[in-house]
Amino acid sequence: MVKNQPEQRGGVLGRSAPARRANRRLDPAEVPRDGGTPLVAIEGVSKAFGARETGLVALQDVNLSITDGEFISLVGPSGCGKSTLLKIVSGLLPASRGQVTLGGERIVSPRRDIGMMFQTATLFPWRTVKRNIMLPFDIARDKRTDREARVAEVIQLTGLDGFENNYPRELSGGMQQRVALCRLLVSNPRLMLLDEPFGALDEFTRERLNVELARISELERKTTIFVTHNITEAVFLSDRVVVMGTRPGRVLDIVDIELPRPRRAGVIATHEYSDRVGDVRRALGLV
Ligand SMILES: Nc1ncnc2c1ncn2[C@@H]1O[C@H](COP(=O)(O)OP(=O)(O)OP(=O)(O)O)[C@@H](O)[C@H]1O
Ligand SMILES: [Mg+2]
Repeated sequence: MVKNQPEQRGGVLGRSAPARRANRRLDPAEVPRDGGTPLVAIEGVSKAFGARETGLVALQDVNLSITDGEFISLVGPSGCGKSTLLKIVSGLLPASRGQVTLGGERIVSPRRDIGMMFQTATLFPWRTVKRNIMLPFDIARDKRTDREARVAEVIQLTGLDGFENNYPRELSGGMQQRVALCRLLVSNPRLMLLDEPFGALDEFTRERLNVELARISELERKTTIFVTHNITEAVFLSDRVVVMGTRPGRVLDIVDIELPRPRRAGVIATHEYSDRVGDVRRALGLV
């Protein structure tokens, strides 16, 4: 089902997130009790680069509300402003107009409760897997007693057990991205921002990591904004796919992905999955 604009979704959020995610293996106590107050609110965000007359409008009037625990993908052609939007949400880049809030608080600079992951893993080559994952604690001089246990937990979650003492050069690209994902998860951010994290990987590794990410996301229940060019990946992972267009960069459509959770590889063979992929392709003007 394709919806036109966020505002037309029946209130700001449309159907409540807990209802959409009812198939997740959740402890009922974990389900937000506020009926879907947005965790992240992107309100009237525009971004221009360069001089007013000759400059480029990278983003125009983007509005999006994201509920706690939701997995959102941004899909669109190169240059439509996906990375720009992610940087604004992370606090790395100021918006020209509008604002982004997290839990009602305006985001004005990078924060510890927002984690980001990129196409390349950016690991420290002189640190082992375990020491790379420990990095956020070291930077924050966080000496909490359970840090070893948390590192062990995310290593196990991502299937890296046995590689704790290896160096990045000894790992495949897919394993390096798993380490980057661990580093993101270990500090338990409220919001995860992923900019084409699997874009440099081969198709086989990408698909396997997508299945892993869906499982991890369902277990850890992290609110996530995931940027990709890959439509099938976006549909597989997401609760909603935000379809963006260029010149100016803007939201064209939002597609609800009401496929059952937990998401497993088998969903790709279903009609429902193909239908949602078709919806996104149509919104992008590809069919
Ligand atoms: N720092 C900057 N200065 C000037 N223009 C910029 C800057 N950053 C981005 N842009 C421009 O803003 C537009 C959006 O860029 P952005 O990187 O957000 O696109 P994208 O959707 O992430 O593309 P891709 O899929 O190729 O990564 C592009 O036209 C880009 O050239
Ligand atoms: Mg980009």
